[in-house]
Amino acid sequence: MRRKLAAGNWKMNGTAAALSELVELARQVTPADAETLICPPAPLLYPACDKLRGTAIAIGAQDCHAQPAGAFTGDISAGMVADTGATYVILGHSERRDLHAETDADVAAKAGAAWGAGLTAIICIGESGEDRTADRTLDVIAGQLAGSLPDHATGENTVIAYEPIWAIGTGKTPTLDQIIEVHDFIRARLTGRFGQQTGDAIRLLYGGSVKPDNAAEIFTAENVDGALVGGASLKAADFAPIIKALSRA
Ligand code: PGA
Repeated sequence: MRRKLAAGNWKMNGTAAALSELVELARQVTPADAETLICPPAPLLYPACDKLRGTAIAIGAQDCHAQPAGAFTGDISAGMVADTGATYVILGHSERRDLHAETDADVAAKAGAAWGAGLTAIICIGESGEDRTADRTLDVIAGQLAGSLPDHATGENTVIAYEPIWAIGTGKTPTLDQIIEVHDFIRARLTGRFGQQTGDAIRLLYGGSVKPDNAAEIFTAENVDGALVGGASLKAADFAPIIKALSRA
């Protein structure tokens, strides 16, 4: 039985004033709900962990460096993320891949660093609109999975987020059949590579324009174990109904 996970990715949004949204969310989410995670910008990691101690909400980072320390101006290491009290890190988000030229190999190296620091890595994959139109989606997904995921992935240290790039921040979502097709494909790839037990234990999130009004339908898919939510995770009033829909699924 995989525990459902609702993960919020705040991207580069939120200052200290936004911590009140976290406190409000914590008021609405109970331990009986799906596991809930917020990944705020790095400057908010310490205060967010501080404010949420003893609540049902976990905190994660949006990226980390592959090296433990050194001359990497502007970067943060996996150990630094763990030191804040955060327990997850998003890796290989399409915005990192596109805007910071991160490759599958970079993502795999970061995943190894995250595991070394005791963090769970949420590894993002997803096809572009062009890939989808050219019917290359499953090939792209297979390549990203093979390249971004090191050996030794387990159900504890790894979560996969399938985020079609054309669905992120656009209000467009794939059909339920398209989501099912890709998630079933990812599950088959994982069991093929890591064995039935581990492949079945790794959680698969769908991401891309998940909103309170489409979440319940998306969560009916057997291999959708939760969501990675951008815009709709910024306000407790939007994210809480998504968490509740996942908890009921
Ligand atoms: P969105 O972003 O929910 O705003 O589409 C999802 C993501 O980029 O993780």
